[in-house]
Amino acid sequence: MATARFCVLFIILAVALAEDAKVKHKTAPKPVRLFTEEELQRYDGSEEGQLIYMAVKGVVFDVTKGKEFYGKDAPYNALVGKDSTRAVAKMSLDPADLTSDTTGLTEEQLKSLDSIFEGTYKAKYPIVGYTASRILNEDGSPNKDFKPEDQPHFQIKDEF
Ligand code: HEM
Repeated sequence: MATARFCVLFIILAVALAEDAKVKHKTAPKPVRLFTEEELQRYDGSEEGQLIYMAVKGVVFDVTKGKEFYGKDAPYNALVGKDSTRAVAKMSLDPADLTSDTTGLTEEQLKSLDSIFEGTYKAKYPIVGYTASRILNEDGSPNKDFKPEDQPHFQIKDEF
């Protein structure tokens, strides 16, 4: 009888511990890697065998598997190692457009940006982090004015 009671207690304890672990696992935030401009630049595909990263809308993607587009001497190599949001929105490889600046883009360009962001980058390439400039001030302190939800064509909630 005592053994049976002990068994019941043991089962209850095991279930409680498992639930606790589940809750902890669910609520543990995923670590997010932030890339400074200099750091992102290291992934520009200039060396064979190197990982290739590029950012669109401040989201850093690992585009290594698209080496035929982004690798050394490939047609879109200019886009990598940086945030190329403007270039992607305008379908331009003009050096002046190789920036995260979206000032003055037309509604149509912003729509095109979203569709390439979703249909190509998010669909095809793993996300490895965010650009620091999206979230931090130049001195590295948190940008308290940064509100992703207030920015046009910008959704942080389902990026991971
Ligand atoms: C004569 C002009 C162009 C032609 C003929 C062309 C052709 C193509 C083709 C055929 C693809 C699809 C490849 C595939 O999925 O297998 C592609 C993808 C792409 N193109 Fe272009 N393109 C041109 C200009 C540009 C320019 C100026 C940009 C500037 C940003 C650009 C950016 C891209 C990007 C970002 C992709 C997606 C690559 C990926 O899947 O990761 N293209 N292009």
